[in-house]
Amino acid sequence: MSKGVIQANYVWLNGKLVEWENAKVHVLAQGIHYGIGVFEGIRGYYDNDCIKIFRLEDHMKRFLKSAKIIHLEIPYTLDALINAVIEVVKANNFKTDIYIRPVAFRGPGSIGVRAKNPVEVAVIAFEFGKYLKPTGVKCKISSWRKPPADSLPVYAKIAAMYLLYHLAAVEANNCGFDEAILLDSEGYVAEGSGENIFIVKDGVLITPPTYGAILEGITRDTIMKIATEILGMKVVERRIKREELYTADEAFFTGTAAEITPIVEVDNRIIGDGQIGKVTSQLMELYQKIVRGKIEKYGRWITEVK
Ligand SMILES: Cc1ncc(COP(=O)(O)O)c(C=O)c1O
Repeated sequence: MSKGVIQANYVWLNGKLVEWENAKVHVLAQGIHYGIGVFEGIRGYYDNDCIKIFRLEDHMKRFLKSAKIIHLEIPYTLDALINAVIEVVKANNFKTDIYIRPVAFRGPGSIGVRAKNPVEVAVIAFEFGKYLKPTGVKCKISSWRKPPADSLPVYAKIAAMYLLYHLAAVEANNCGFDEAILLDSEGYVAEGSGENIFIVKDGVLITPPTYGAILEGITRDTIMKIATEILGMKVVERRIKREELYTADEAFFTGTAAEITPIVEVDNRIIGDGQIGKVTSQLMELYQKIVRGKIEKYGRWITEVK
């Protein structure tokens, strides 16, 4: 998302469609000053003359939960938010894969951290390709750590948390790596700057637990389901030591933007044989079929917009 200028025709802003150029925010918005906001990242895949939105309802439920956690009163129901996404996707008449960014934040009004200024809500949708290299990324363990659970609400997808991810990602890039991996406050592997992480060890899929310092990723959940239900793999949620990551047979990221991204190197240690692993490549293939509605069993996760 850092490359290129993003643009589309319409944005859904506070209840109605507005032209891209008119989707504006006042500079006094509390969301800008203090990061008081929540957002989502959703993908839509262009297939068979329609956009197939993946796990729309789950994303919008998480949006509302994130908002509740930080006292943000979203003035729309779950159904209204889902309809807003559909409306803006339809209006833009996309003919490629897209990314959808619902966002809610405190707007202008008063000043100070105590103020509870009116909440503004937008849904932005735009053409989008790959986020990380699907051929595999080289990672750096970040010097920036995930905060403990009593410091910032790690479960919520809150704007303020993304300064941490920005610092981690920029640090990794400045050091010549593709992506950062953040440890939790106790030194165990947590997640990437916008992705959950999995390792494969002796045929078992292992990922940090949801009680750890991670965002409960929707792609993470998808992968855990398809690994057990289709590949018949054992999936274990437990803490992962940094050394286990270095010595894993395979490792990969999961995320809406990153989809399934193989990790081929961490801190200059080659993972496995430095190529995309067997399990990773099977999951990548299955995931692409599922998000495009090609596996009937998971058809419930797709919302078609024509
Ligand atoms: C910090 C972080 N972890 C994990 C994820 C993956 O979550 P999801 O699979 O729901 O996109 C994301 C992206 O949303 C993220 O920003």
